[in-house]
Order: sequence, then C-alpha cells, then structure tokens
Amino acid sequence: MPLSLAKRLDVVQPSVTLAMNARAAELRATGVDVFAFGVGEPDFDPPSFVLEAARNALAPGAKPGVSKYTAVTGIPALKEAICKKTAHARGWTPKPSQVTVTVGAKHALFNLALALYEPGDEVVIPAPYWVSYPEQVKMFGAEPVPVPTTEATGFKMTPDSFAKVLGPKTKAVILCTPSNPTGSAYDESELRALVEVWKTKSEAYLIVDEIYADLVYDFPHVSAATLAPDARDRIIIVDGVSKSYAMTGWRIGWSIAPERIAKALDTVQGQSTTNATAIAQQAALAALTGPQDEVAAMRDAFMKRRSVMVDALNTVPGITCRRPEGAFYAFADCRGLYGLPYKGKPIATDEEVAFFLLDEAHVAAVPGGAFGAPGYVRFSYATSPERIVAGVASIKAAVARARG
Ligand SMILES: Cc1ncc(COP(=O)(O)O)c(C=O)c1O
Repeated sequence: MPLSLAKRLDVVQPSVTLAMNARAAELRATGVDVFAFGVGEPDFDPPSFVLEAARNALAPGAKPGVSKYTAVTGIPALKEAICKKTAHARGWTPKPSQVTVTVGAKHALFNLALALYEPGDEVVIPAPYWVSYPEQVKMFGAEPVPVPTTEATGFKMTPDSFAKVLGPKTKAVILCTPSNPTGSAYDESELRALVEVWKTKSEAYLIVDEIYADLVYDFPHVSAATLAPDARDRIIIVDGVSKSYAMTGWRIGWSIAPERIAKALDTVQGQSTTNATAIAQQAALAALTGPQDEVAAMRDAFMKRRSVMVDALNTVPGITCRRPEGAFYAFADCRGLYGLPYKGKPIATDEEVAFFLLDEAHVAAVPGGAFGAPGYVRFSYATSPERIVAGVASIKAAVARARG
C-alpha cells in the first residue's frame, strides 16, 4: 500500500466546474458544438497594447533583467499602479507595502487562508458562494460558516442574517460583490449596513473579493474599504486583472492588506511561489496604466449580453432567472425542470438538470449545488449574443422534447 495522502485533503471537494468542463470537452472531442455557458472567463482578448507590452518587454535588451526573479510581492511599478488604481476606483490610496502581487486572485485568497485560518476558527461566507472559498477554509482546518440567502433578497445577506452568524470564533468574513455565482452586487446603502454590523459586532477580518468590481451595471461599484476608513486595519481587498482585462491565463491577482498581514503574505509566498511570473507582471502593469476604453467596451458588451441571456432564459418553461446587477453570470432557478425524464428517470437535482442540458441541449452550465444553492444553475454570458440566443433556443427545444 502506498503511504496515505495528507488528512487535510479528506474534507476538500474537487471542483464540480472542472468535472462539467471535462464532460463538455469529451462531447466536443466527438464533434459536438457545445455552448460554453459554464466558463468563468471573458471570451474577449486582452487589450492589444497589453500583448504588445509583453512582447516589448521580451525584446532583446528592452528591459534588462525582465525575465529574472522579481521581488516576492511584485515589481514596484506594478504595486504603485495597483495603489493608483485603488485610489482612482475606490477613493483611497493604500501603500505599496500593503500590496502582494499573486498568481491570480485565487492565489491571493489561498495565501490569506494559509496566513490566517487555523482549527477553531470560523470563516463567514454568504451562500451562494464561489466554490473555492469554503474549500480553502477547510484545507486549513477552519470551519466555513455559510450564511444562506434567498432570491427574495437578491441573494444578498441582510444585516440581521449577518449579525446572527458573527461570534467570538469568527476569524474572517469573505464578501464577494459582484458575486460569482449569482451576479448580485450590493449597492452603497446595502453594503454600508453590512459594514456597520461587521464593525460593531465583530473583531474579524473582512476580506472583500472585488475581482468583478469593474462589471457592475446598475449603480457604481462601492468598496467596503471606501465605506469604512476607520476599519481599514481589518479589511483586505482581493482583486486582479483576470476578469476586467480578459487576462485569466496570465495569472496576476493581488491582495491589499494591513501591513502586518502583508508581511505574513510575503513570508508565505516567499516560501512557495516566490514572485508571480515576471512577464505577466509587465503585462498587468500595461493593463492598469494604459487606456481603459477597452475595459469600458467589454463592460458595455457584458451589460447587453446580460439582457440577452436573462430575457432568453425567462422564456424557457421551467426556468426563471433574476436580473443580476454585475459580473457575467445569470443564476437561474431550474426546479421547474424537475420531473422531466432524463436517462429513464425523472430529473430530481440541479446536477441532473446540468447534465440534461449538456447531453440534450449541448449547453454547458454549472449546477448550483456546487455553490451552496441547490435548485439553481449558473449560466455564464461571457460569450456572443448569437451564441446565447442559439444556446437557449437549444435548451427550449430539449425541454419541449422531454415534455413530449
Ligand atoms: C469570485 C472569484 N474570485 C476569484 C477568482 C479567481 O480569479 P483568478 O483567475 O485571478 O485567480 C474568481 C475566478 O473565477 C472568482 O470568480
């Protein structure tokens, strides 16, 4: 018998999103045209000047030392640019010493989990949640405490529901706005009310995942760090270039944390990945300091696609979909499809709905159970309006066939 794996992995779930992607890839390999509503990445290319900056950085002699190790927490110019972006978008200026540039925002969250969570700690996570939050918490022996929300409150926590879960063991709260998977975003008054509860009822850190901050459609994005200048010694912002600049594969994210925590993150990262890839940091620098009109254009395109996706889904008998305020996800109630025949049995779960959609409509989407919201399915609209219309038409046809 080989020696066992570390026990800490026993409690960690593999990603369902990746399982769905694998099944979709199998179908594609047999020549099926699969509608990619499962993916969490923009279909756009990064702005052309970003690609050019990466190429220029690599040109012989252009940037001496550019392909060497950088400082663990990132090149100074990028950290400055992150501080400037924060000042511009959030109205306050962190110090570069608070910034840790990481291998994507997920890595920033992982570093934080490693630096902060331990057995006995509770980490409050509103549900539906992004799949990695609870798994990272469990990996370090701490306990995720989900706060259920419902569609009736826009999948948002109320101050009351939030206050109830905060306690002496709460080490951190992870707030994602706009949210993956629901697309819900807190407006200023909603967020202010939650920040007040957190400030007065708890000593915990507030980790705000703002990776979709540039993709809010109905009101300006507001950051908890902007609303609580007196509590910034407990607020950590997580952000990155993956979504706003369509740079998912470049793997550049960051955290902005109180200096004491930033020092710990330097240690964590110094003993693991060292720096994020040097060339990718140059590309991220170009993204942040270059013209921002392509970001605005992508945002406008997503906003139009939101209507196309939500309106189309709402025409499918058995599916209802709330209009989300941000990100690029529509989170649809699919319980009306339960009971339809699929593989000789009536559909009884969101996972079966998702596999029915994949097999019968060739639409890849992610079941809500993975996000702590059984009954729902997440449809990404990071694809063209034509594909959205055709994909949902395919769902409608599959549902009609199944209803007989
Ligand atoms: C809410 C949320 N946070 C963080 C991430 C991770 O971003 P990155 O690709 O920069 O690691 C994602 C990506 O899907 C996300 O949806």
